[in-house]
Amino acid sequence: MCGIIGYVGKRKALPILLQGLKRLEYRGYDSAGVALLERGGICVVRRAGKIALLEEELSGKTFEAFCGIGHTRWATHGIPADHNAHPHTDCRKTLALVHNGIIENYRALREKLLSEGHRFFSETDSEVIAHLLEGSGPPLKRILHVLPLLEGSYALCILFADEPGVLYGVRRFSPLILGVGEGEHFLASDVPAFLEHTRHAVFLEDGEIVRVSHDGWEVFSEEGERQEKTVTVVPWDPVSAERGGFKHFMLKEIHEEPRVFEDTIAGRVNLARGEVTFEELEDFSGEYNRVVVVACGTACHAGMLGKMYLEDFVRIPVDVEYASEFRYRDPLVGEKTLVVAISQSGETADTLRAVELARKKGAQVLAVCNVLGSSLTRLAHWTVYTRAGLEIGVASTKAFLAQMTVLLLFALFWGRKRGTVSPETLASVLFEIPTIPRKLHALLAKENDVHALAKEFYLFKDFLYLGRGLYYPLALEGALKLKEISYIHAEGLAAGEMKHGPIALIEPDVASFVLVGQGERRLKVLGNIEEIKARRGKVIALCDEGDVEVLEKADYTLEIPKTLEPCSPLLAIVPLQLFAYYVALEKGCDVDQPRNLAKSVTVE
Ligand code: AGP
Repeated sequence: MCGIIGYVGKRKALPILLQGLKRLEYRGYDSAGVALLERGGICVVRRAGKIALLEEELSGKTFEAFCGIGHTRWATHGIPADHNAHPHTDCRKTLALVHNGIIENYRALREKLLSEGHRFFSETDSEVIAHLLEGSGPPLKRILHVLPLLEGSYALCILFADEPGVLYGVRRFSPLILGVGEGEHFLASDVPAFLEHTRHAVFLEDGEIVRVSHDGWEVFSEEGERQEKTVTVVPWDPVSAERGGFKHFMLKEIHEEPRVFEDTIAGRVNLARGEVTFEELEDFSGEYNRVVVVACGTACHAGMLGKMYLEDFVRIPVDVEYASEFRYRDPLVGEKTLVVAISQSGETADTLRAVELARKKGAQVLAVCNVLGSSLTRLAHWTVYTRAGLEIGVASTKAFLAQMTVLLLFALFWGRKRGTVSPETLASVLFEIPTIPRKLHALLAKENDVHALAKEFYLFKDFLYLGRGLYYPLALEGALKLKEISYIHAEGLAAGEMKHGPIALIEPDVASFVLVGQGERRLKVLGNIEEIKARRGKVIALCDEGDVEVLEKADYTLEIPKTLEPCSPLLAIVPLQLFAYYVALEKGCDVDQPRNLAKSVTVE
């Protein structure tokens, strides 16, 4: 995790670095720092805590530098403290660097450097790189010499005192993007860091090194050979990186869901022809005998729902695995397996490693991803973009809605191709799809009801989220949202499993959020509500509009507009996300930057 930024150009570097760091703060916020190349040499300012504290530290000081680097940290090695904050320098301060990733062999390197007389100022793994780079000779040569010594993952941004006006960036298993401006260049972990200045980006590959000055840039391989790169124009507009009147990014992003849904289906759903198409999948044969979904966190919950869609519509067996488990097994995948990798960021280390393993074993990989040009999209055979736009809130919301939407459409598309979905079945879903944005708006219009409910429940210490069928992954997601932003213990359960153990937890101060659903499972879930009530547990039920029986049985209800069953998760997710948001708000939690979390988990 961690966010890194570098700037070289004709403007003063510090304000640009600080602004960029704020855009990257979602990647970590334990400490922050900058290094600037001033007339007198390299000047480093760093501070434990959020970027606002670093700004405080810097206030009143004047910096003239046109070239600098910055970092916002999510601690891995060494506690969050001033001395562990980046940038790090060598003993003589001839260079400064910022690092995102983990140097796995840093202990051995540190021991060796200590025995050679180097003095260390931090407990971080990153500092060894600064000491290894110390020396004389052209900086590029030194970098090429040091890289083979490093094991692990790294994106680096380095400035050398003896090559003023030049920055170096290095990438291996951690993201690094070059922003190409007019008379200025940027290096950053993610595009929003420089989006206000340029939409022209060069996505670096693993093993590449970039040398940038104000008027040019060159990319080299680890062998020092020049590489040809293309400049991509990023479609996001800078306004999407603003909160736009909302108190938090999370709330703004929930409110964007009707539009996200429309963007995600655009050009893919053709009502007149009764078709679902993906132009990205023109050469997708669908000739597989098994699907394995790999993903983490929220994306994995979307994958669990995707399993149900694929098994229902394509009649193909699907396994869903946490990428972090898959990658450390010897999984049974091969040429006849389609691996579907789901990720908002496309930079989650576990998911990337799982995909690499699957590819090694001969599987073909379809990525469902939100970030254009991210590492995952470059590893996959096909990418279907979720088109949710920039998601900044650490708790993923609109990206989840877009993932569910893509998976539903993909299952219908593949099912038609395979002949397992009839034109009538497809038509029934397709006719429902245009109603979804209106229904999402209707749910958002009832936001105050959810807020009122959150006021009743924010002091509860334990929540169970229960659901069956399509609502089981939603129960897991509802619980994850609540725990990650409000720090309340919440467990998602398949409702039928309750009687096999978790029912022992029920007592008056345990809240159960029961997702009622449709079809034959509805009655079973009503039974679950009875069981909880009989043990004096509190029940919030989410059900279809006008379900009188649920209204009578539950203590509180949230209703969703009626829809076809496969579309119901697309609606039910909204009250779950809003509930988590308002509980966290009532508790006074930092919704967009919850403690201990980072948005992109680029370490294992
Ligand atoms: C969701 O709210 C999370 N913060 C987290 O679980 C996230 O979904 C997970 O880390 C996967 O991220 P990705 O989609 O970017 O791969």
